[in-house]
Amino acid sequence: MQSSEIRSRFLAFFEKRGHAIIPSASLVPENDPSVLFNTAGMQPLVPYLLGQEHPMGCRIADVQKCVRTGDLEDIGDNRHFSFFEMMGNWSLGDYFKKEAITWSYTFLTNNDDEVDGNKGLGLDVNRLYVTIFEGDENAPYDQESKDIWMSLGIPEHRIYALPADDNWWSPGDNGPCGPCSEMFYDMTGTTGDLDKDGFIAACKSEDVIEIWNDVFMEYEKKDGKVIGKLAQKNVDTGAGLERITAVMQGKKTAYETDLFANIFGAINLLKPEKDLVLQKRIIADHIRTAVFMITDGVLPGNKDQGYVLRRLLRRAIRHADLLSLPKNSLHIIALSVINTYESIYPYIGAQLNNIELVISKEELKFRQTLESGLKEFEKGINPFILATTYGFPIELTEELAKEKGITIDRVKFDKEMDEHKKLSQSASAGMFKGGLANTNDKTVRLHTAHHLLLAALQQAVSPSIKQRGSNITEERLRMDFSFDRKLTDEEKKQVEDIVNEKIKEDLSVVRREMPLAEAEKIGAEMEFGAKYPDVVSVYFIEDKEGNHISKEFCGGPHVTHTGELGQFKIQKEEAVAQGIRRIKAILE
Ligand code: ALA
Repeated sequence: MQSSEIRSRFLAFFEKRGHAIIPSASLVPENDPSVLFNTAGMQPLVPYLLGQEHPMGCRIADVQKCVRTGDLEDIGDNRHFSFFEMMGNWSLGDYFKKEAITWSYTFLTNNDDEVDGNKGLGLDVNRLYVTIFEGDENAPYDQESKDIWMSLGIPEHRIYALPADDNWWSPGDNGPCGPCSEMFYDMTGTTGDLDKDGFIAACKSEDVIEIWNDVFMEYEKKDGKVIGKLAQKNVDTGAGLERITAVMQGKKTAYETDLFANIFGAINLLKPEKDLVLQKRIIADHIRTAVFMITDGVLPGNKDQGYVLRRLLRRAIRHADLLSLPKNSLHIIALSVINTYESIYPYIGAQLNNIELVISKEELKFRQTLESGLKEFEKGINPFILATTYGFPIELTEELAKEKGITIDRVKFDKEMDEHKKLSQSASAGMFKGGLANTNDKTVRLHTAHHLLLAALQQAVSPSIKQRGSNITEERLRMDFSFDRKLTDEEKKQVEDIVNEKIKEDLSVVRREMPLAEAEKIGAEMEFGAKYPDVVSVYFIEDKEGNHISKEFCGGPHVTHTGELGQFKIQKEEAVAQGIRRIKAILE
């Protein structure tokens, strides 16, 4: 059965049972800054699960596009995908366990359109296993769900009660949540009856895989704690289209289904010199995700969604190189993704040119940064700086170092990157200036001017001013800082004069690596709320006597002397929030 048939059967099934079919929301949440991407079908529906009235009624079904990039390292195995589609049906204070479980069961097992109005998937009942919640201080053992499953014919010994780790679902530390009942399918057809330990082992070995989750959302979480019941009882279900397609096509992984056939076809047409399955899967996964992200308006960048997209594309380039694919061919693979999905999402086809352009531009750009990174590499090998500033994959740094007979301290690097990654994934990633990957001259100069500007503000306006955000393009710098009123014209003039004076003095810009504690001790400027690794890079702007005009935690890059900057000019000074001002400035 083709994936398109699974989609349409699912939606028809629930439409018949009173559900309004809604289109997938964008991958980028509209009004929810707590996540970068929708990671489950329920996310765009949170306000309605909490009680707001949905314009389409209280029964909703859809196929929602989702992105999860928390475990990029796992991608390429059978089960992890950075992009996937989740089929789901929702009751917003309407039906509850009985209908939800019965319909899940009917859809999975029924294959006779005469019986129930429309066809389900016709899966073998004897290969189904289910789990229920075993109970804890927040909610009791879910006897009701167990009874419903048994009334449908699932034998008691194939219903396993599991703790909250497995059978309590919530989108995060806050929001609607509740106990869940999950359905599993025996991929081998041979496991037979399993006891609980056997079942858990079979899940680990992928002989048995989860195919659907029914969440009974009648509780609410706050700051990680269940605080009580919601005003209404909801149902939130999620069935991964990739998983179900693999099951229906008798494959161990969705990579071997029609969802990926075109994409691997395109990779193979490019005649990879090596036949590395893992690399092909990573490229296919990442480009597929990139196409959907770009379609939803994400562009490669240094923060938030853009940073995730950039990471995926750069990883794909690296793996394309490992296969020795022709350079600058990722956009050709993107075409095969568009072909696969445009009948489902016509707006992807409409963006074909844009998608190709964004991907080929990013590939060209990365290949250039690879070149400037190589120059940096020649000056001395710092894998962390190469990775964060130049976007150098560690594998590449290791290869290059090996040629010189040098080994890289991978443990230290991984530790630094781990810290950095945590930062990058958070919504404030853009504030970490080490992420500045655009190394062309104009931005580098603006970056140094940015440091001088902060120092000048502290000198001329108030020593308590702290930076609260930054953004640099080729044209201008932008700095957000803490201050509670408009700057006077005189203050702005003074700030400009100080910066221009420091430029004229042609001060040295020096980078030093030091333990975090030491950098804090000397009072280097750090970003509010940011987390830093144990060893940090600090940029000093200093005069001939070694007096520090500026010292900031920063990954660079910077000019070596302020004399290279030109004339500094403030273009705009405005409020962005209570107590936060913003300056835009240029170099002429
Ligand atoms: N929200 C539930 C999940 O993602 C259905 O598993």
